[in-house]
Amino acid sequence: MLLLTPVLVALVCILIVWIFKNTDRSIKKRKVESQARAETRPWMDEDLRDSSDLYQVEEDGDEWQESEETIDHIPFAHTRYSEEEMAKRSQEFYELLNQRRSVRFISNEQIPMEVIDNIIKAAAGTAPSGAHTEPWTFVVVKDPEVKHRIREIIEEEEEINYRRRMGVRWVTDLKKLRTNWIKEYLDTAPVLILIFKQVHGFAANGKKKVHYYSEISVSISCGLLLAALQNAGLVTVTTSPLNCGPRLRVLLGRPTNEKLLLLLPVGYPSKEATVPNLKRKPLDQIMVTV
Ligand SMILES: Cc1cc2nc3c(=O)[nH]c(=O)nc-3n(C[C@H](O)[C@H](O)[C@H](O)COP(=O)(O)O)c2cc1C
Repeated sequence: MLLLTPVLVALVCILIVWIFKNTDRSIKKRKVESQARAETRPWMDEDLRDSSDLYQVEEDGDEWQESEETIDHIPFAHTRYSEEEMAKRSQEFYELLNQRRSVRFISNEQIPMEVIDNIIKAAAGTAPSGAHTEPWTFVVVKDPEVKHRIREIIEEEEEINYRRRMGVRWVTDLKKLRTNWIKEYLDTAPVLILIFKQVHGFAANGKKKVHYYSEISVSISCGLLLAALQNAGLVTVTTSPLNCGPRLRVLLGRPTNEKLLLLLPVGYPSKEATVPNLKRKPLDQIMVTV
């Protein structure tokens, strides 16, 4: 029995060392894997890297609010068109959207703010969202000083993006668009719309509320925004200012549960505006019917 004790102690020690080494190895492996993932996806904004939205409840220990709401279900009101009318409307809508272009030369002429209100109502006020969480904030910037500060932040970060973060392939792919880190439209456009996704919301009692599929939901609302701008006769360019999110969020006084997704300068095209002569894929290359 007395002889067995040192043997047992030795065995327990070996077991502890083995467990420790394995845990350390798997942590290192996970770190290397996530580093590799980041390196192969340079276009992913550091601040937006939270596609684990669905798992956030499991991952942090904060208190989360479960929905206890009950809602009435009401008859659905539908407008039915004849087949000819449907064909006409869909063709006209396609023609309208087919004229949309990303315009990087925007005039400083003012635009009616009522139109901006309607456009944001059409986008963020009607878009579908995961579990109807409406996980977005659209910040409309008109103040010339704030616009200029936004330009300074973006140009500073974009110069680093172009020179160091984006890599040769990405910068080469962008050459045909003639884009660089100088963004004059951030000063000239009468309105900048900064679209934030809310990673989670807050219930009335202060507890966190899960926002399901927030990035997909916000992206859908941005698609509607682009269509609404086109319909109103205004132009924009969809921009995703890489790694500018945290500084712009602080500048605009937005809370930490909001992450910048896109920035749209909005206005009329300047007289000398040009666009790259891009071709779009025809239907047989974008649709498969089964
Ligand atoms: C998610 C996304 C991010 C984009 N980011 C930028 C950007 O940062 N800067 C820019 O000049 N254009 C940006 N664009 C615009 C694209 O370059 C443009 O949509 C594409 O060249 C097609 O041109 P079109 O919009 O005129 O059809 C972005 C577009 C999308 C959808």
